[in-house]
Amino acid sequence: MSANRAVLPDIAFERAHGAHLWDADGNRYIDFHAAFAPFLLGHNREEVNRAVIDVLRSGASLFGAGTTALEGELAELLCTSLPHLERVTFLNTGSEADATALRIARAVTGRTHFIKIQGGYNGNSDEFACNTADPIARIGPRVSPGEYACCPVGAGTVLGEARFSHAVNFNDLESVRWVCERYPIGAMVLEPVLQNVGVIPPVPGYLEGLRALADEYEFALIFDEVKTGFRHSVGGWAAVSGVTPDLAVYGKAVANGFPISLVGGKQRWMDQLRHPDPLKRPFVAGTYNGHPVGLSAAIATIKILKSATPDVYEHVGRLAALMEHGLREIFDRRGILAVVSRVNSAFSFYFMDHVPRDWHDLASHHDFDADLRLRRALVDRGVYAVPVPTKQWSISAAHTELDIKFTLEQLDGAFAQMKNGVTA
Ligand SMILES: Cc1ncc(COP(=O)(O)O)c(C=O)c1O
Repeated sequence: MSANRAVLPDIAFERAHGAHLWDADGNRYIDFHAAFAPFLLGHNREEVNRAVIDVLRSGASLFGAGTTALEGELAELLCTSLPHLERVTFLNTGSEADATALRIARAVTGRTHFIKIQGGYNGNSDEFACNTADPIARIGPRVSPGEYACCPVGAGTVLGEARFSHAVNFNDLESVRWVCERYPIGAMVLEPVLQNVGVIPPVPGYLEGLRALADEYEFALIFDEVKTGFRHSVGGWAAVSGVTPDLAVYGKAVANGFPISLVGGKQRWMDQLRHPDPLKRPFVAGTYNGHPVGLSAAIATIKILKSATPDVYEHVGRLAALMEHGLREIFDRRGILAVVSRVNSAFSFYFMDHVPRDWHDLASHHDFDADLRLRRALVDRGVYAVPVPTKQWSISAAHTELDIKFTLEQLDGAFAQMKNGVTA
């Protein structure tokens, strides 16, 4: 079973609609997990499903050669809606898209070394299967400026032999410069809001500083917007921050849960995919790339995000603010040492006294045991935030004020029930 699905308690889910999940025993849960975040519009959103059903009925298929009108339509929609995208290519998963973006950057710069974030996740490829969210005992003392030792996730990767990845803290510009002074860096890949470990926002000036370092050392700045893309705005975090990456990677919310991902960016980088010399052209391939199911779901999703009434972003932002307010009230009233970290509809709360600056800070101070016990207690109360400490809570267009009210009541009850650990 995939690591992301091997989660206790074992529940066999059977169906989902809107903001709710049902398990095989008929229990209903309000869903804040959103399958690791794709469901910004809620599960089985009617218009998205209809677009997929229509495309299948239309006689479209996976042709396996040439291009399609749907590909053209989605490419145009993306390049006109996200100004930092001049060219896009479609794949199926975020992992493939991250690996492809890195390959493009390496092909253009001729440099193999790259920078990643300690505690960040950029897919399951060999390149990125390291330093994702290790316990502090494995990581050791804070390193800054500098880089962390490579900590592969699991066995079987080649990371130990060919060490081209350099893990630095999020929100730490000096470490990026430190690495650039020592290695020929071709790319830096990061989530512009560190959402692999909940929600850690960039400090003011961080992304702008990375842009300047990328220009100075001539590496590709790659935003992994697999989680931030479409969730925070149609233009993703690039639009929110005003910082333009060279390449950006999208997945998850782009098609509200249907499998499609994409890499896009400035012509200078993307046109390498069409280089006349085959030996200079990065290899991109995939039997299912450009599948009409993913394409039609993405087109329908983006159209809803651009024009739905009421506005999706206004709705989810308002409910998330209610949730944040309610959580703070519970923490204050019960004397719980905790902070809420929220960016728009994505949030997490940490049992520590400040919003963490990076994974090292979080891993050093958060009460992971209390977090896990709370999440498990919530499952019994009909609220599903995946029972894995720190993981992001996501609010969708399908959640209602009543859902938030019910959830806050359950949170309050769960805190009352917890015997020890979370009170200051
Ligand atoms: C930021 C980020 N990048 C990449 C990925 C990998 O995407 P996928 O699971 O579609 O391969 C994920 C998945 O959780 C992610 O959160």
